[in-house]
Amino acid sequence: MPIYNVYDNIDILNNIIIAEKSGKKAEDIILLETIDSTNNYIKRNFKSLSYGTVVIAENQTAGKGRLGRSFLSFNNSGIYMSIYLKALENSEASLKITAAAALIVSLAIEKCAKKSPEIKWVNDLLLENRKICGILCEGIVSPESARLEGIVLGIGINVYKPQNDFAEEIKDIAGHIEDKPCENLRNDIIAEILKGLDNLDLEDGSVLEEYRRRSFVLEKEILVLKNGESKKAKACEIDENFHLKVLYPNGTAEALSFGEVSIRI
Ligand code: BTN
Repeated sequence: MPIYNVYDNIDILNNIIIAEKSGKKAEDIILLETIDSTNNYIKRNFKSLSYGTVVIAENQTAGKGRLGRSFLSFNNSGIYMSIYLKALENSEASLKITAAAALIVSLAIEKCAKKSPEIKWVNDLLLENRKICGILCEGIVSPESARLEGIVLGIGINVYKPQNDFAEEIKDIAGHIEDKPCENLRNDIIAEILKGLDNLDLEDGSVLEEYRRRSFVLEKEILVLKNGESKKAKACEIDENFHLKVLYPNGTAEALSFGEVSIRI
């Protein structure tokens, strides 16, 4: 069911449009008005969902970010979506998916909005130095079997400037793609992301190449925040497993894997 958009009705989320443009079945695209978190929805309901199911919400009341942070949602202004994916045997591959997802979202925004977001390792997207997208990938472990049943790839994008602007505490770091609603922009971006995920080949070297090309951190002085400590470093390389190789001022090097690290410029 399309959701009526009280703010402006030219970009109403619509699963039929998304299905037509992405090639997915409309019944595999669940549109919700309000939910705590689309990731949580999939984690609660995975047993009745098939792989590839997409859950999109107009609003989240308890959106989750990486490292236990929260992720704010703005009614009618963003994209809050989660995709239920098959777990990959190789755990490195699951990690690669989240990085590749950042590239896919960046390409989708470029195609639909003609703007090119940079990727702040691992998977934040920035436009004009402000964060416009975050990605949270979580494993689903069945309580009965203790087996990894799948993964949830959650994507949050600030598409439009929120009606009441961003809260004071994030005003200087949060960005958006467009000031005002554009016809079908959210439906188009979602459809492009879904197509990108369907066509994703993790063995294709061009994914890493394009990811590096769009990197916001490479060759920059950064702050590595790990285990409550903050250390200066230079971001030198992103390796084939999407680890970030950094060099500390004392000459030691480290390959950072994501999960426990935060980067500041
Ligand atoms: C981050 O920036 O740290 C990651 C943010 C991920 C937000 C998305 S919005 C859709 C999905 N549902 C959630 O609760 N989180 C992800």
